[in-house]
Amino acid sequence: MSTGPGLGSSSWPSEPDRSSESPQDGSSGPDTGAKTGKAGDALPSGHAMWGNTTSGTAETVGYVPTNGGVQPPPGPRGGPTQGESELVREALKDAKVSRETSVRVRPERRDKEWPRPGTCRVITIANQKGGVGKTTTSVNLAASLALHGAKVLVVDLDPQGNASTALGVEHRADVPSIYEVLIEDLPLADIVVPAPEIPNLHCAPANLNLAGAEIELVSKVARESRLRRALDSYDTDQFDYVLIDCPPSLGLLTVNALVGGNELLIPIQCEYYALEGLGQLIRTVDLVKSHLNPGLNVSTILLTMYDARTRLAAQVAEDVRNHFGNVVLNTVIPRSVRVSEAPSYGQSVMTYDPGSSGALAYSEAASEMAHRGAPE
Ligand SMILES: Nc1ncnc2c1ncn2[C@@H]1O[C@H](COP(=O)(O)OP(=O)(O)OP(=O)(O)O)[C@@H](O)[C@H]1O
Ligand SMILES: [Mg+2]
Repeated sequence: MSTGPGLGSSSWPSEPDRSSESPQDGSSGPDTGAKTGKAGDALPSGHAMWGNTTSGTAETVGYVPTNGGVQPPPGPRGGPTQGESELVREALKDAKVSRETSVRVRPERRDKEWPRPGTCRVITIANQKGGVGKTTTSVNLAASLALHGAKVLVVDLDPQGNASTALGVEHRADVPSIYEVLIEDLPLADIVVPAPEIPNLHCAPANLNLAGAEIELVSKVARESRLRRALDSYDTDQFDYVLIDCPPSLGLLTVNALVGGNELLIPIQCEYYALEGLGQLIRTVDLVKSHLNPGLNVSTILLTMYDARTRLAAQVAEDVRNHFGNVVLNTVIPRSVRVSEAPSYGQSVMTYDPGSSGALAYSEAASEMAHRGAPE
C-alpha cells in the first residue's frame, strides 16, 4: 500500500529538532510505543522513517538515510566517535520506535500563505462513529488554515463542547451558544467569539444544553435546516472556511450540519471497525442531497490516528483508498501524544507543539485541502 506522495520521501529535510518537545513526549501515554526514549533522540539526524510499515523496531520500519549516509556534524563534545555510532546503531537495532516520528510530512510550506477560496467553504466534519478524530481534525485543520492566512470559523455542534474546549473558548452553560441559535433563533453573530490563541480563528461554542436540542428540534419548523438558516442570515463571506464539528450520531444535529455544509469531510480512524457504519453515513448523505441539500459533496476523507507499526492500519488505509480514490487526502495523521495532550491546555496542537509530527501532519492535510480547493 502507498501512503501517498506526502509520506516517506527520502529527499525531505532532516528530522526537525525534537529538543523543544516536553520531557513526557515519547515516554508517556498509551500510544507512544516503547519506553526506550524519544525516537528523535535515538535516531541520528538525516534519517527518515517509512510510514507504511508493520513493525516497531528501528530496523524493520524502513530506516533509511536521507543524506547519503553522511555523518552528522560533530557535537559539542567533538561529535560521536565511530565507536559511539556503532553503539548507537547496535542499541537501535532492537529499539521500538515512537509513533511520534514514524510518519513524515513536509514542513516547508508552513510559513507560506495558502490559496484562499473565492467564496466561503462550509465543511461539515462528520462520522457517527465516536472517537475517530472529528473534533481533533476540526480544530487542527481550522488552526492550520488560520495560521496560513485564512479566516476560519469553527461551529461546535457537539454537546460535549470539545471543539470549544480545544480552542480555549468559554462554554459554560450560561454562555450563549449554538443551542440558542438552533432552538431560540439567536443570530450566529451573537455567539461567535474569537479563539484566544490564534488570530483569524473564531468559534461558535457549544455546551451541554445542546444535548436537549436533538429532542427539542423534533417539533420545530424546518428542523433539519435550522443551522443552514442561521448560516444564511450570517455574514459567512467574512470567512474563508466554516468547519462544523459534529457529534457521534446521525441524529438531527448531524443532519443540520449536513444541510448546512457544502462539503463533507469524513475522518476515518485506521482501526478494524473503521469502515463499519460508513455505508449508513453515505446513505444519509445521499438522502440529504436528494431532499434537502443538493449542493453537498463528500469532498474529503482523512485517515487519522495512523499507527505505522501495524499491518492493520496499512490495510485499512489501503481499503479506504481503493474504495474512495482521490477524495482521500494523501496526508495521513499519525498517532501523536502531542495531539491528545493539546486540548487539556485549551490549545490546538498547532500552537501547543508546532514541531510535533501531529502538528506537521495536520498542517500538511490543511495545505492539501487549501490547494485542492472546493470540488466543482
Ligand atoms: N492523531 C492522534 N493521536 C493521538 N490521539 C488522538 C489523535 N487524534 C485524536 N486523538 C485522541 O483521540 C480521542 C478522540 O478524538 P476526538 O475527540 O477528536 O474524536 P471525535 O470523533 O471528535 O470523538 P466524539 O465522537 O466523541 O466527538 C481524543 O482523546 C483525542 O485527543
Ligand atoms: Mg468530537
